[in-house]
Amino acid sequence: MIKVLFVCLGNICRSPMAQFVFKQIVEEKGLANQFEIDSAATEGYNEMCHAGIHHSTREILTAMHVPFEQHYSRRIRLTDYAYYDYILAMDDSNVEDIQSIVGTDTDRKIYRLLDFTSNPRNIKDPWYTGNFDETYWDIVEGCDAFLKYLKI
Ligand code: 4NP
Repeated sequence: MIKVLFVCLGNICRSPMAQFVFKQIVEEKGLANQFEIDSAATEGYNEMCHAGIHHSTREILTAMHVPFEQHYSRRIRLTDYAYYDYILAMDDSNVEDIQSIVGTDTDRKIYRLLDFTSNPRNIKDPWYTGNFDETYWDIVEGCDAFLKYLKI
């Protein structure tokens, strides 16, 4: 079982989008039983507000026929570092924030999702850009590249 935790700032836009896009990809390839997939935030504000998936993330997932379930924001915890095999951040600041919560990445589990692509870069935060289409296509690119990296 490969355990993957997608992480962004709020856990209402990018990381739940990645969680459900990746889930769809592995399900379509018949690999779902080999993965445990979840997502988390680096900040605790949205967990405190019991915030669910952002409506524009829900809209694009629906438009792209990506199945999703209810998900509530939760902040990444120290214990997540030992539990998960891959902690996939959306941008550099997520990586820094994750490290400030879980400590040094001694087991080399923390990556940016787009680090697995031929064009490593941050995934811009659609909370600020408003461009959820761009986020979706970046996430598809990253999830495809991550699965190729795993060679399964
Ligand atoms: P996300 O976007 O990190 O992709 O989920 C954000 C969502 C909420 C906030 C910031 C970014 N916020 O400030 O509440």
